[in-house]
Amino acid sequence: EIGPGAGNTLDAIRGTREFTGGATSETWGYSQDYLGPLLRFRRGRTANISVMNRLDEPITAHWHGMHVPGYLDGGPQLAFGPGETWAPELPVDHPAATLFYHSHVHGRTGPQVYRGLAGMIVIDDPEIDDPLPHDYGVNDFPLIVQDRRFDRSGRMTYSLGMMDRMHGFQGDQILVNGVIRPKLTVPAGLVRLRILNASNARAYDFRFTDGRQFHQVASDGGLLARPLAMASLQLDGAERAEIVVEFSDRSPVSLVSRDIGMNGVMNGGMMGDRGGSMMMGDRGMMGDRGMMGMDGNSGAPLEIMSFDVGEAAPAGPTRLPTSLPSDAPALGDPVRRRNFTLNMHTGGMMRGGMMGGGGQTMGINGAPYVMDRIDETVRAGETELWRINADMMMRHTFHVHGTSFRVVSQNGRPVDSAQIGWKDVVRVQGPTEILLRFDKLASEETPFMYHCHILEHEDAGMMGQFTVT
Ligand code: C2O
Ligand code: CU
Ligand code: CU
Repeated sequence: EIGPGAGNTLDAIRGTREFTGGATSETWGYSQDYLGPLLRFRRGRTANISVMNRLDEPITAHWHGMHVPGYLDGGPQLAFGPGETWAPELPVDHPAATLFYHSHVHGRTGPQVYRGLAGMIVIDDPEIDDPLPHDYGVNDFPLIVQDRRFDRSGRMTYSLGMMDRMHGFQGDQILVNGVIRPKLTVPAGLVRLRILNASNARAYDFRFTDGRQFHQVASDGGLLARPLAMASLQLDGAERAEIVVEFSDRSPVSLVSRDIGMNGVMNGGMMGDRGGSMMMGDRGMMGDRGMMGMDGNSGAPLEIMSFDVGEAAPAGPTRLPTSLPSDAPALGDPVRRRNFTLNMHTGGMMRGGMMGGGGQTMGINGAPYVMDRIDETVRAGETELWRINADMMMRHTFHVHGTSFRVVSQNGRPVDSAQIGWKDVVRVQGPTEILLRFDKLASEETPFMYHCHILEHEDAGMMGQFTVT
C-alpha cells in the first residue's frame, strides 16, 4: 500500500513467477515480480508517486479512472525510458472508488499489461462514513482477474495469431491477484469484493456455483445509489465492480464465469442480445465451431477462485444499507453531440495490414491513432452526448480518460443509468450513448485518450485523443 503524500516509489522491474507447477515465467511488475501493490489514496490529499523504469523499453503509469489533468494522466505522450523516473503529484479529487493503473505506451499496452504492469487503486473518502465492509484483508478484498496462456512447459506466453489480433488475446487459465484459482478464507458474514477485470480482452459473467444472490454496490467510478441484487455480473476489460456477498452459511463456494464469446455470444448455447443471425461466425470468417471453440472453451464455466468460510469477523456491518453515499452531480442536457465509429478496418488494411498480421489497421472514425494528431477538442464544463458505434458486429468496449460518464443507452436500448452508476468503460455491441462532462484540462502536448479497451485493438490503432480547454 502506498499512502497519500508520503513520497512513494513504484519500480518497474523484471521478475519471475511460478504460476503452474515448477515452470518459471518471466514477468514484470511495479515494485513486485508481477503486478503492482494496491495503491490507496485519500480524497482531498495529494499522492506523490515516483515511478522508476528499470526495464529496457519505455513505459508509462496511467491512473485509469482517476480524474486528473492530462499532464498527470500517464497516457502515451508521458512515456519514459529505461533508467528514467516520472514523479507526478496527483491531487486526489475523486469519490471513493476502485480504480486501475497500468502502462499505456502506444502499440505496447497489450504486451506490457500482460507481462504485469498493472495494479489496483482504491480511493477512500474521509468525509463519508463507509457503511459497507471496509476492513482491508479481513472483510474487504481486491480481486484482480486476468486470463493467461501457458505453453506446454508451463511458461506464460503472449503471441498474437490472426484471431487474437481480431478479437483480442484470451487465455484459458484465470489468475486472481496473480495466482491460478486461489482459495480465499473469508469471515462468516458480509464480505466486500472489489473486482477489477485486468484482462487484455476477456469479458466475464461472474456467478457463484450455488447460484446465490449478491449485491453490487459500486461500479467504475464509485458507489451506486443503492445496492443492486443480482446473481450474475458481467465485466468487460478494465471494468470494475464492488460486490457484497453474504458468507454466513459457512458452506464452501466457488466463483465461476460463464464464457462470453468474442461476438458477445455466450458459449454454451445462450445467445447475446442480437441472436445469431448476423454474427461474424455466420459470415464465413469462422464457422460456428470456430466461434465456440476459439478460446479453447466449449462452454463449461471457467473456475475463477474458491472461498472457505471461517469464523465471523469480530467487527463490521452485518446488514446492507438500503442506500449508499454515492456522488451524483447532475450532468444536465448535452450542449453538443459527437459520433465515434470503431473501425476494424481502416485504409491500412487494404495494404495487407491486419490479415498480414502487422501494422496499424484499426481505428476510430476512419483513421488509426497517431500520437501527434488531436482528434477532438472539448470545452471544460460543457455536457456532451457521445454516440459510439462499430463498423462490424463484434464486441468492443469504449473507455474515456479524464472523467466518469453516465450510460444513456447501450446496444441500442435505453438503460437505467442510475443503476449502472458512474462509468469509464462501457461495452459496445451496438449503438451506445454516453453523457459526460470534463472538469480536468488536457493540452495538445498531453491530451486525453478514448479507445477500445480490448488492448490488442487499442494497440492496433483503435484509439483517438482530445484536448479539454
Ligand atoms: Cu485503462 Cu486508456 O486506459
Ligand atoms: Cu484510462
Ligand atoms: Cu475493440
